[in-house]
Amino acid sequence: MLTVRNLKVEIAGVEVLRDVGFSLAAGKATVMVGRNGAGKTTTLRAIMGLLPWKAGSVRIDGTELGPLPGHARAGLGIGYAPEDRRLIADFTVEENILVPALVRRMSAAERTRRLDEVYSLLPQLAVMRARPGGGVSGGQGKIVALGRALMLADKVLLLDEPFQGLAPALALEYARTLAHLHSNKRDIAILVTESSPKLLNSIADATLHIERGEIESLASPGDVGGLQHA
Ligand SMILES: Nc1ncnc2c1ncn2[C@@H]1O[C@H](COP(=O)(O)OP(=O)(O)O)[C@@H](O)[C@H]1O
Ligand SMILES: [Mg+2]
Repeated sequence: MLTVRNLKVEIAGVEVLRDVGFSLAAGKATVMVGRNGAGKTTTLRAIMGLLPWKAGSVRIDGTELGPLPGHARAGLGIGYAPEDRRLIADFTVEENILVPALVRRMSAAERTRRLDEVYSLLPQLAVMRARPGGGVSGGQGKIVALGRALMLADKVLLLDEPFQGLAPALALEYARTLAHLHSNKRDIAILVTESSPKLLNSIADATLHIERGEIESLASPGDVGGLQHA
């Protein structure tokens, strides 16, 4: 599905990613764990074409993404929820979820089909669809950002530290939502970054440890607990 090999990224002359490589497979949730500054956000931004890279390759189903500018990647089926996943306050929840589809000039029929799928996977969004983006809580806002990313995630869903700033009860609720999504949408690969692995142990099919811009180790399949179906 998505394969990253020997990715190197420099920011302001500093090697931020030294050697990042991993593969994501359809139906699998991969968790990338690393402390602040390890390179998680940089990895996701590089995959999204938001940062140039010095060396390495990123392929989705065999297509090399390196030469493609960011906008050309939009059609490749990668959904992305950035670390700073603010909603547009004056748009309703539904309008916020629709933004990526509008940017991609999807047909109305396609938008509706995808929106319906998002609502069926994340029913709590249907309940708050008419509320203004500025009027939802922090925890709800993260679910909206998840739905927004799902709109384009035909193949890969990238979630950058979705638990950051959530109180423990809300983080647990988010983890349950993610587990539900993972068990009900098996045709995509999910990558979630996190600074502490605890909450995601239950949904991780594989764990990657990133340290100083390098993937340190891969969990062996024997270490990985199965998905706890929520
Ligand atoms: N725009 C930037 N300018 C300078 N350094 C940056 C910039 N963005 C990230 N870095 C550096 O790159 C490293 C990796 O950052 P990041 O990918 O944000 O880590 P993480 O998401 O794991 O916390 C850090 O050392 C950070 O200081
Ligand atoms: Mg980060």
